[in-house]
Amino acid sequence: MTFNNILSETENGITTITINRPKKLNALNQETIKELHKAFKAANEAKETKVILITGSGEKAFVAGADISEFADFSVEEGRDLAAKGQELLFDFVQNLETPVIAAVNGFALGGGLELAMACHFRVASNNAKMGLPEVSLGVIPGYGGTQRLPQLIGKGRAMELIMTAGMIDANQALNYGLVNHVTSQEELLPFCKNLALKISRNSMVAIAQAIQAINANYQDGVDGFEVEINAFGYCFGTDDFEEGTSAFLEKRKADFKGE
Ligand code: COA
Repeated sequence: MTFNNILSETENGITTITINRPKKLNALNQETIKELHKAFKAANEAKETKVILITGSGEKAFVAGADISEFADFSVEEGRDLAAKGQELLFDFVQNLETPVIAAVNGFALGGGLELAMACHFRVASNNAKMGLPEVSLGVIPGYGGTQRLPQLIGKGRAMELIMTAGMIDANQALNYGLVNHVTSQEELLPFCKNLALKISRNSMVAIAQAIQAINANYQDGVDGFEVEINAFGYCFGTDDFEEGTSAFLEKRKADFKGE
């Protein structure tokens, strides 16, 4: 699969997707959103991919937001459509993938960039990263899930302040807020994330997919997360991985999971 705006490569069970528009600080235009959808879908369906990493190319930015030049003259309907399509194709899509997705935030993650990082299952930042939702400084609001996911991750008061001030926080503040799980040097970011991905990939991928679904259920209106957990727990008992994992424990050996 070839793309104009992204790179995707798989090694040791880890697919790394890199947004590759460094001259535009990896801003998300609509073509990039469509390409990301295709790349995430392909990686999720590929048997060899256990974990997906997403990062930005260059040393400056993860993603500096949605591409402002594309929507500057949009109407009300076009604006609504832009948010709806983007949420469906990329942000909700990534959040609900069965394959774990880690955002390696390597610089500016602003607007749609932070929204993309927040849609991932968790985030690691390099120490030069800066994060924020500056949309109100452009006369608009976050439209790719930012008003929902930011308060879920850092609490309502902090989210209100960050969105209202259109400010940016640095990597350490993001760590302090729980927005990212770890902060590394710039050089260590990808090796650190790949190491985490390897640890994840030694476990049962079929169980991990069920865990993602159950955790996400906590954030869905009208869904009883405990009920989802009970069903997902039961589902695992019918998998080969469960048989292998419990047998391996009782036989005092390492489990060899097939993800089935
Ligand atoms: N959409 C479109 N283009 C963008 C962009 C965005 N969100 N963010 C950066 N770019 C482009 C710039 O227009 C510039 O292009 P040019 O060289 O053709 O003029 C290029 O990327 C480099 O950006 P520049 O602003 O010159 O870099 P900087 O180091 O001075 O500033 C930022 C970096 C991130 C502070 C600044 O680019 C910025 O504020 N970006 C917009 C952030 C934003 O509001 N995002 C939310 C969008 S809803």
